[in-house]
Amino acid sequence: MNFSNILIKWYLQNKRDLPWRKTTNPYHIWLSEIMLQQTRVAQGMPYFFAFTKEFPTVFDLANASEEQVLKLWQGLGYYSRARNLHKTAQNVANDLNGIFPSNYKDLLKLKGVGEYTAAAIASFSYNEVVPVVDGNVFRVLSRYFDIESDIAAPATKKEFTELAFELVPKDNPAIFNQAVMEFGALQCVPKSPDCSICCFNESCAALQKKKVAVLPVKSKK
Ligand code: ADE
Repeated sequence: MNFSNILIKWYLQNKRDLPWRKTTNPYHIWLSEIMLQQTRVAQGMPYFFAFTKEFPTVFDLANASEEQVLKLWQGLGYYSRARNLHKTAQNVANDLNGIFPSNYKDLLKLKGVGEYTAAAIASFSYNEVVPVVDGNVFRVLSRYFDIESDIAAPATKKEFTELAFELVPKDNPAIFNQAVMEFGALQCVPKSPDCSICCFNESCAALQKKKVAVLPVKSKK
């Protein structure tokens, strides 16, 4: 089995039961991904339930007052995220008939939606073959393939994105993207991962070369 197939098999056996994985509704996926930026899953989850209950559609969020939105956001921090969220909901509701853009390129045009979030929505909601590249992906791929590129350097993002593009299965990009993030969150953790139980402990380059603790490389800038 290759890297992607082993990873997906691991995911199916180990994944957490998370609410945003039970939907392909782009509005809900977008909400979850904005909330989970700089925020842990356990912290973000109650807010995801609160927002989807209070504002079941993008029109409900768009029509709310900023005060209402900020109040419900209270405790999550980074309040510019909530203001962008509200503005983008109004943009989608008023200018796009309430329909989220259905591909990576157009999703990128939304305020507050960067490459990572656009890739997450495009793959999870529309099955577009585009990889998510975040800190988890840097860590997992740098270790498995023993890549020493400095993840603080802009060119490195391009390098990992190209590699991830080759790894994403064309017939199921969504599951691969969820899997690599989950693997980074649960197994290939930043500090002292338990490689003895890892599904890649016979093929991980960093483990074979005793470099798990030094990868990924991140320069202090
Ligand atoms: N963090 C960001 N996006 C996530 C997702 N879809 N599942 C789990 N953790 C995440």
